[in-house]
Amino acid sequence: MRTPHQILGPFFPLGSIPVTQGDLTERGHAEGEIIEVTGRVLNDKGEPIPAARLTIWQANSFGRYVHPNDPNPAPLDPNFRGFAILQSGYDGGYWIKTVKPGPYPVGPDWMRAPHIHFEVSGQFERLITQMYFPGEPLNASDRLLMSVANPDLLIAKPLPLTQDRFGVLQFDIVLARG
Ligand SMILES: [Fe+2]
Repeated sequence: MRTPHQILGPFFPLGSIPVTQGDLTERGHAEGEIIEVTGRVLNDKGEPIPAARLTIWQANSFGRYVHPNDPNPAPLDPNFRGFAILQSGYDGGYWIKTVKPGPYPVGPDWMRAPHIHFEVSGQFERLITQMYFPGEPLNASDRLLMSVANPDLLIAKPLPLTQDRFGVLQFDIVLARG
């Protein structure tokens, strides 16, 4: 099943230098709950898409983006940029270590569920989407998540804890043609 599209949102990183090795935590110094997110970029036949470019951005654990237009008064974290650019491996796989983003307000009556933004460019196409967290109470009231026909396709799946006991989430991204 193809991964549904989601809006780019207003906080695509500007003038910020991305992390390129997958560790967004600045060697564990970022504040918040450290998690890993891993998955594969696939086409709709289930074949891996190697060398896809993944641009990933997110709020910090307080729900604040490193972006000049973010109106949220929540604090910045000097050890968290929340911005990575990666390539999928030969098996379509990717991996990041990061902190779980906090929810943030969008107007007076909507709190965004925690989410991570993804822009994925394969050989033939580009997908912009958002990954959500399993078991998150705010998911049910998130208008963007609930706007897609099958929200489960945007909710990552928990994997068994690693030796380091970080939460690990699996999020596969399916492009139509790759
Ligand atoms: Fe966002």
